[in-house]
Amino acid sequence: MINIALPKGRLGEKVYAALAAAGYGCKEYSPNSRKLIFRDDQNGVSYFWVKPSDVAVYVELGAADVGVLGKDLIDEMQPDVYELLDLKLGTCRMCIAALKDFEDDFVKPLRVATKFVRSAEKYFSSVGREIEIIHLNGSIELAPVLGLSDVIFDLVETGKTLTENNLKIVRQVSSISARLIANKSSYQFGRKEIDRLTERLKGG
Ligand code: PRP
Repeated sequence: MINIALPKGRLGEKVYAALAAAGYGCKEYSPNSRKLIFRDDQNGVSYFWVKPSDVAVYVELGAADVGVLGKDLIDEMQPDVYELLDLKLGTCRMCIAALKDFEDDFVKPLRVATKFVRSAEKYFSSVGREIEIIHLNGSIELAPVLGLSDVIFDLVETGKTLTENNLKIVRQVSSISARLIANKSSYQFGRKEIDRLTERLKGG
């Protein structure tokens, strides 16, 4: 039996579809259900629906053997897990964006609004730019519009949120996609089973 933590929401549903196609379907699965655990003894799989930002916690602490989450959260949380596969789903970009007429004033620290505090600090320190972090939990694009920050450090998927709020990309920092991660001891003791799942997801 493999226990899999999936991120609730659109990405999780896409990942479940990929797993089901790879032979890890679950008869009781229903996207409209409020149930948080789905189990299929025949396929030897059990799914947990968790908040995307909690997937790493479930996997690192061993409540789930494997899980799927975005590279953005892996970079931010740096969980002590194995990263096994790029699923090439949920692709987007981590970007710095600002109002269309923004010009950097290098004399002052740059005010950066973000959910990804650690990743933003790491990036700006790597380019030697002094910053002041404004830690928000959502609707990050609002911060420069209201003068709360100079720039945002956030995910861009279609670019629609930026366009509709009169913002532009200043720099693309990295490419993001969903990754399969594994608990270290689950992998040590159940390597065969987890490798089989990884290979099947690759299409092998
Ligand atoms: C994410 C991200 C951007 C938006 C980008 O927000 O933080 O705000 O999606 O998507 P787009 O480029 O396709 O417009 P999310 O939907 O997770 O909501 P949030 O405001 O709670 O962060």
